[in-house]
Amino acid sequence: MSVSIKELISKMTLEEKASLVVGAGKSQRVPGAAGETRSIKRLGIPSIVMTDGPQGVRIEGDGKPYVATAFPSAIVLASTWNPEVVEKVGMAIGEEAREYGVDILLAPGVNIHRNPLCGRTFEYFSEDPLLTGEISSAYVKGVQSQGVGACVKHFVANNQETNRRIIDTIASERVLREIYLRGFEIAIKKAKPWAVMSAYNKLNGEYCSENEWLLTKVLREEWGFEGIVMSDWGAGENPVKQLKAGNDLIMPGSDEQVKVLIEAVKKGELSEEILNRSVERILKVMTKTLTLRGYKYSNKPDLERHAKIAYEAAAEGIVLLKNDNNALPLSSDAKIAVFGTGQIETLRGGLGSGWTHPKYVVSILDGLRERKLNVDVELAEKYEKYVKEMRKRKEYKPESPDIPLPPLPQDFLSEEEIEKYAKRNDVALIVITRLSGEGRDLKPEKGGFYLSDDERKLLEKVSKCFHKYEKKVVAILNIGQPIEVYSWEKLVDAILLIWQPGQEAGRVVADVLIGVINPSGKLPITFPKDYNDVPSWSFPGEPPENPVKVVYYEDIYVGYRYYGTFGVEPAYPFGHGLSYTKFEYSDLKVELREDHLTVRFKVKNVGKYPGKEVAQVYVSPPRGRVPKPLLELKGFHKTRMLKPGEVEEVEVKIPLDLLASHINGKWVVESGEYEIRVGSSSRDIRLRARITITKTLTYGFKILQ
Ligand code: BGC
Repeated sequence: MSVSIKELISKMTLEEKASLVVGAGKSQRVPGAAGETRSIKRLGIPSIVMTDGPQGVRIEGDGKPYVATAFPSAIVLASTWNPEVVEKVGMAIGEEAREYGVDILLAPGVNIHRNPLCGRTFEYFSEDPLLTGEISSAYVKGVQSQGVGACVKHFVANNQETNRRIIDTIASERVLREIYLRGFEIAIKKAKPWAVMSAYNKLNGEYCSENEWLLTKVLREEWGFEGIVMSDWGAGENPVKQLKAGNDLIMPGSDEQVKVLIEAVKKGELSEEILNRSVERILKVMTKTLTLRGYKYSNKPDLERHAKIAYEAAAEGIVLLKNDNNALPLSSDAKIAVFGTGQIETLRGGLGSGWTHPKYVVSILDGLRERKLNVDVELAEKYEKYVKEMRKRKEYKPESPDIPLPPLPQDFLSEEEIEKYAKRNDVALIVITRLSGEGRDLKPEKGGFYLSDDERKLLEKVSKCFHKYEKKVVAILNIGQPIEVYSWEKLVDAILLIWQPGQEAGRVVADVLIGVINPSGKLPITFPKDYNDVPSWSFPGEPPENPVKVVYYEDIYVGYRYYGTFGVEPAYPFGHGLSYTKFEYSDLKVELREDHLTVRFKVKNVGKYPGKEVAQVYVSPPRGRVPKPLLELKGFHKTRMLKPGEVEEVEVKIPLDLLASHINGKWVVESGEYEIRVGSSSRDIRLRARITITKTLTYGFKILQ
């Protein structure tokens, strides 16, 4: 493509233009990649290849998937609160995409955790838009540093899987601007992804892929996005409306859609300028691709190096929810009895397009063995045999690789037997797993958000027997989203939330248990005490049996913004996460500059272990004209590894426009007294200071530029 893009477009026939804006179906060039564009040989326009996904490159191959690293799920990456680590993960995924001949990676997923039951919670980052925006920016930068384009998805408010292709999301402009669009806005402005994927769902009556307000006014005119918008696979109904709205590329694409577009231009229903507009955008992005630059890919990504990065990211993302009487870390020679079939069938990630095909997954049991921990051999073998035999039974066999394995009954050991293990071991680990994914929301019932009866029985029995002999009990949560813990957490001494941490799961768990890794992850989403406490009670919409519409009644009160403002106590709050050491905060100084706040304070490791702390800066607004949440995250910083006694001086800059609310179509920072709250979680505030903004500031739509 040596000629200029404009010249090239002038040489294209209507048929060629229409074919360029409609994908070619599954990729032929890289078999099993999610899609590719159509080539136009006559003009030397090649096809470009795109594939999933957020947890690692997913290429199904011709019946033989490409081997690629299973990185920790997005929710783990957000739990690190460490953009540097996330950027490294992005680089590694980008490199794998590049070496497998992929031009655009269909990741990251930037939707907000509106409700813990959303099946894709694992592949989205957080209930908070700032954390989402910062972590996704790092991810995008990493991917694109490798010459591969990133595609942030699913734009916007794809916050549930139930009826996702037709559901109409009814949300106020304010909550869209402040919460659901904001993560995308930050990522687009900071990291400039090559592509945005429009979501399946409707937004206030119109499919996202056919929504001009969303795809043209907000995304391009206000935010200055210059890349391409592609539809989610099979999204929307009307290709003409999609093009007009600013959805440049229709994926995966069909010949029928090409025909419809050609006819529409011929009949005057679609102007050729609109078609040209999308063609130009696609060609512009194309010029940046590896394919166009003639990159010779190797089909040999550096999986060994990337395994280390997957380990490092998981190690930073594990969250220690509870640790009574310093139950953890264990001494390296502690005798360990491991319960729960998840020790063998450890989950690396969730289902759907975010699925991965790694070379291996180190299960929790294998990880403990590999690190030579003192695992009760008889019990481990019993579990291995149990899992093997049960999976041979018809009712527990997988139906297909993309359908979750039916959960195995967990309560198969008698109390006498468990007592035997309690006598001869020092600690019990109980692994609890939950699997969900694309197209399947979790249910607010037993075996879903709540423990199943047999999981609860196992916990009760193990807790009773081990505590009888004054032995510790540790729950390990291998889950993709919050579940109910409040009613049973008193049965255990510690809870280690490992989420779905990718292929290195078992190694990371072993290293955390014995303190080789000191946990430093913090929750990017609230763990409510009960499902009835969740503010987004209208999930997944109405009518309940087959919802067509979901109204965001809770408006801006999403996640901790709700729990904090209305005094609803969660089981574990947003930003929570313990460490084996302790941190002390001091010397808060806040300065109000012309266009930002400078927040300075000190964090000191006052405990016995080296560790990292995620310091969080929240802002509480004055009482103004419009209601606002009691506190909102406006900045954060993860310290370096601090040795006992070591201090880090932290500086967090908060642009003033980040304090704005969206009021009557404008971004406004109301005058008054703001409280700056610095803490170790949203409910563990250590330092406070006040500043006064004397005059109301108005930003139009120029926020965050
Ligand atoms: C998913 C997208 C994915 C696409 C291609 C869709 O079903 O929603 O996230 O990128 O498929 O696999």
